[in-house]
This record gives sequence, C-alpha cells and structure tokens, in this order.
Amino acid sequence: MTADSTLAATAGDTRKAPALQVRDLVVRYGNRRDTVRAVDGVSVEVARGTTLGIIGESGSGKSTLAKAIAGLVPINSGTVAIAGPDGKPAPAAPSVGRAGQVQMIFQDPVLALNPGRPVWKSVVEPLVPHRPVIPRRLRDRAVELLGQVGLGPEFADRRPGQMSGGQRQRVTIARAVAARAPLVMCDEPVAALDISVQAEVLRLLDEVREAFGLTYVFISHDMSSIARIAHDVGVMYLGRLVEVGPVREVLERPRHPYTRALIRAVPRIGLDARDRELHPLEGEIPDARRPPSGCRFRTRCPFAQEVCARDEPPVETVAEPAPGGGSAHRTACHLWREIQDGTARPRTS
Ligand SMILES: Nc1ncnc2c1ncn2[C@@H]1O[C@H](COP(=O)(O)OP(=O)(O)OP(=O)(O)O)[C@@H](O)[C@H]1O
Ligand code: SF4
Ligand SMILES: [Mg+2]
Repeated sequence: MTADSTLAATAGDTRKAPALQVRDLVVRYGNRRDTVRAVDGVSVEVARGTTLGIIGESGSGKSTLAKAIAGLVPINSGTVAIAGPDGKPAPAAPSVGRAGQVQMIFQDPVLALNPGRPVWKSVVEPLVPHRPVIPRRLRDRAVELLGQVGLGPEFADRRPGQMSGGQRQRVTIARAVAARAPLVMCDEPVAALDISVQAEVLRLLDEVREAFGLTYVFISHDMSSIARIAHDVGVMYLGRLVEVGPVREVLERPRHPYTRALIRAVPRIGLDARDRELHPLEGEIPDARRPPSGCRFRTRCPFAQEVCARDEPPVETVAEPAPGGGSAHRTACHLWREIQDGTARPRTS
C-alpha cells in the first residue's frame, strides 16, 4: 500500500506530532497452511491528546490491532511509532517492547487485577515494574490516584472481588494514570458494565484524558459509546480499515456501505422499523482465513458489482480536513460517489 493510499487520520491539531502512527500493519496468526490475517495493512494516525474510536463486528481484528500497538503480539510487517510523553516522535518500530509507552484497559477488569491483592497495590504496580513486593511507601500515592478517579481512601485496601464492575474499572484507569504512559489502548472498557455505569466510566475516561494529556485508542462494538468519547473513528472489517474520519462527519455522512449498515443497526427511539428492515446488515462475517477477493465486504454488500469482486478498492479522500485542523475523511469503496449521488442502487432481496 502506498503512502497516499493509506487510511490515515490525524485528529485534533495537525500541527502536533501524532501520538501514534501505524503504517501498513500486518498481524497474522497460525501457520503457513492455515493463516488468519487478523490485521491486514492498517495505517492510521492519532493526534496527541485525542481519542480514535475503532468499531467493527466481532472478529474484525480490533483487539489484535490494539495488542500489536501495545507490543503484546508480534507484528509480521509494518511499523508502529509512539511519541514520548514530551511529544517527540519515537522511531517507528516493527515489533514488541513498548512497555512504558502504552497501557491497556481491558473489558474485564477482574482479569487485569490481582484478586488477592488490595487494589492500592495494583494501582501503583507500574511505578515499580518487575518487583513482586509493592513498597508500603507508595500507598499514599495510590490513595491519591484512587481519589482522582472518584474512589475514596476506604477502597484502597479492598480486594477486586469486594468492588463493583464500575469501581474495578476505575481502579484500572487509576493504574493507567500511574503508569504515565502517553498512549492508552482501551479494549471494550465499558462493554461489561451496566448501562448507567457505562456513562460514568466514559465520562471519567474522557476527564482523565484531558487532565493528563493522554491519547486513546478506544475499541467498541457500540457506536453510541464511540460517538460520546471519540474525536475520530475508524471502521474495521475483516482486518482492514474501510472508513476513517472525524466521528461526527462519519456518523452523519457515512460513505462505506458497511459503515452505513452499522449505523442503521443502532436502535434509535423513533426510527421507523421499516427503514431499518430495508437495510439490514445481512449474513455473517466471512471466514478470516479465506477472505473474499477484491472488496472483502462484497459478499454482504447490497451495492456490489463485478469490479468489487475483481479489484481491491483504493482508499480515497471523501473530505479534506476542516480548516484549522482535524482529520480527513477517507473510505475504501469503488462506488462511494455513485452510492452518494444515488446512481448506484442497492439490490433488494
Ligand atoms: N491467538 C489467536 N490465534 C489465532 N487466531 C486468532 C487469535 N486471536 C484472534 N484470532 C483471530 O483473529 C481475528 C481477529 O480477532 P480479534 O480478537 O482481533 O477480533 P475483534 O475485532 O477484537 O473481535 P471481538 O469484537 O469479538 O473482540 C479473528 O478471526 C480471530 O479468530
Ligand atoms: S467496493 Fe463494492 S462491495 Fe465493497 S463496499 Fe463498495 S460497493 Fe460494496
Ligand atoms: Mg476484541
């Protein structure tokens, strides 16, 4: 993929060096005979202090992308460059060893926290890496950090099992703050929480990002969470980013048929049910070991034509960045113009 054919987004102020720059990233699982290209040529940028949301169905490669950026799975090709806390760009690295630069927040905080430890120890763990015993002198710092995420000192000595899901996720956010890592990968951080708690944790994440100048990659199945927290959004399908751009622009003017289908699938009060029925997202995501030729979405796309099976769609700029900063809106669909102006009509089943 050439530099100008990448789906690159620079959210926020384009004069700042991006906090994260991913180029042509490929991550494969399996062996020579049975390979899944879980991430297949993804390029994206995230400006410092902003949030890039990543959305896509199960199996589209979201977690693999996050783990590859964090250095938790090996990269087959491509590069990841993470700027330091001072904003200075780091050299692009092909693989592992990004401890200290990236923190992860996972869906299930129970798995991320040691069940036998009082949570204050988990919070300050990143301050003393590789030390089995957490020094008692760090307890005050942990209490301070817990306070910053809305947990009083009475929580410091609790075990994770003695807290609610939302409180546990607050602990992992406090730990991410303690780590002082400039980049935080949030992989479905609110998916396991009750809907009212989701809103609180999203708000906290956003406040923490702003207060500490952090940059997030925020993965979710849920378009409304992305809309609430992200500056930019990238849409993944079978290992590829098919659309990326400012979140409002993408939600209001989606260009890729897959993005359009994802947005239509969001239940909205007042939306005419018949409207949704006319544009359902049909069929299962194909087997990632044998993706369709050409456009990977073609087996489910109501607009698919011959060219879609033959040629991989190039990435095109749909809208340039807004004056004064922001990111371009780009998509990878042969027919986005025709769909937009109504000359390409969807098949009706
Ligand atoms: N360790 C692994 N070994 C082999 N294949 C894997 C492994 N982890 C993920 N995969 C495959 O890679 C593809 C992408 O998986 P990934 O977990 O990144 O998707 P995801 O978008 O995060 O899905 P979900 O929304 O369900 O979390 C899937 O086809 C999955 O089966
Ligand atoms: S390239 Fe063709 S199959 Fe792919 S999304 Fe566009 S119209 Fe649909
Ligand atoms: Mg996942």
